[in-house]
Amino acid sequence: MALWDGRFSEGPAADMVAFGACLDVDMRMWREDLDGSRAHVAVLHAAGILDDSERKTILSGLDLVADELASGAFVPGPEHEDIHMAVETRLIELVGPVGAKLHTARSRNDQVATDVRLWMRARLTAVHAALVELVAAIVERVKTDGDVLMPGFTHLQRGQPILLGHHLLAHAWAVSRDAERVADALRRLDACPLGAGAMAGTPHPIDRAVAARALGFSRPIPNAMDAVAARDHQLEALSACAIAMTTLSRIAEELVLWSTSEFRFVRMGEAYTTGSSIMPQKRNPDAAELVRGKAGTVIGALQALMVTVKGLPLAYNRDLQEDRYSLFDGLENTAASARITAGMFRTLTVHRERYEAELTGDFLLATELADHLAARGVPFREAHHVAGRIVGHLEARGEDFTSLDLPALRGFHPSFGDDALSWLEPRAAAERRASLGGTAPSQIAAQVDDLGAWLDEHLEES
Ligand code: ARG
Repeated sequence: MALWDGRFSEGPAADMVAFGACLDVDMRMWREDLDGSRAHVAVLHAAGILDDSERKTILSGLDLVADELASGAFVPGPEHEDIHMAVETRLIELVGPVGAKLHTARSRNDQVATDVRLWMRARLTAVHAALVELVAAIVERVKTDGDVLMPGFTHLQRGQPILLGHHLLAHAWAVSRDAERVADALRRLDACPLGAGAMAGTPHPIDRAVAARALGFSRPIPNAMDAVAARDHQLEALSACAIAMTTLSRIAEELVLWSTSEFRFVRMGEAYTTGSSIMPQKRNPDAAELVRGKAGTVIGALQALMVTVKGLPLAYNRDLQEDRYSLFDGLENTAASARITAGMFRTLTVHRERYEAELTGDFLLATELADHLAARGVPFREAHHVAGRIVGHLEARGEDFTSLDLPALRGFHPSFGDDALSWLEPRAAAERRASLGGTAPSQIAAQVDDLGAWLDEHLEES
């Protein structure tokens, strides 16, 4: 028997019972459902709808239900349909008819909206904390290995010599914005639907601010229809997560690439790799691959929820029961991925000398020749052309920059200065780029300071 079956003369089809139930996903938020009910008890008591003893009875009944759910003594089944009816049914079984007063001035529509917001608040806070922690882990890595020389890539082709700190800080800034987007989503989440009823409010003299306060929200949602129908807060949270996952996935992709024998730039910590069941020598970067893979899952979750919500008329529609499947997995995968990525950074070994010698003579120093000429007054376009001719000439002869001497350079352009060859030293090239945001150590140090201040602020928040 369902709590709503007064007007029905026959029960639902067996298939329909299973089809309509959402207890699998609702069981992930039973604590939030009980918190919502406790807050509603406070509302009903403040409104004089429950007297002191009824309040006490219902609250201790809810505690019993909580104990039973925690211990597994009460296992809701599909006949309960959802967590709200499961809790209420069990409450009435335990405390008798007074339990049936609890549903005054509320509906499952505002209950589910409230439960999901409570669940989201805790999990989004965890996502935020994990992203902040990741920024901290990257900054730590910059402090230990930020001076390592490496090629900067465009098109995955060697572009210009840079320092590892420069590259890693680019990721750290992106992750910091991801964390800020999550914090924004948390701010907009901060309003309470409880007491909205089905959609129209209630004739009972309740004060919705009591529920909002009891649940730690800063205010009730002003419109009862909006309170039960809105899912944009879920979309916003999931898009913040999906965007964050694109950042994490790009990081993961680089870790996979950099740890190959072809790159040999980093070695992943053993704790974040796995072996192969057939190839004994393997140490695979599974953690990074899973982060990259979960990015697809989270982006898919956002897509699923967008499509579910977009055609719905106001107010509540049962389609909305699908929301939690995407939302819960999306948020949990994002928090886990951020934590795993931080772990990978903390346990990484950087092969410090890997590129130091190899980059000397590499054509990725061609920009240096052009910049050298430009610094001596040669228009950059002309300087670029000269450097290009030098590269073409050397390449045709199977040579590189190490075979150049000053007379040879001056043969290509008279403006090459006495110090021209020193521009072809890759570390010096990286260190010269001291413009704001450049790869020079001074700029890396400034960003480490800025991100340190950002971390102080955000570690407090999380
Ligand atoms: N199980 C429903 C959900 O998760 C709760 C709201 C049901 N409301 C209703 N009018 N059937 O969305």
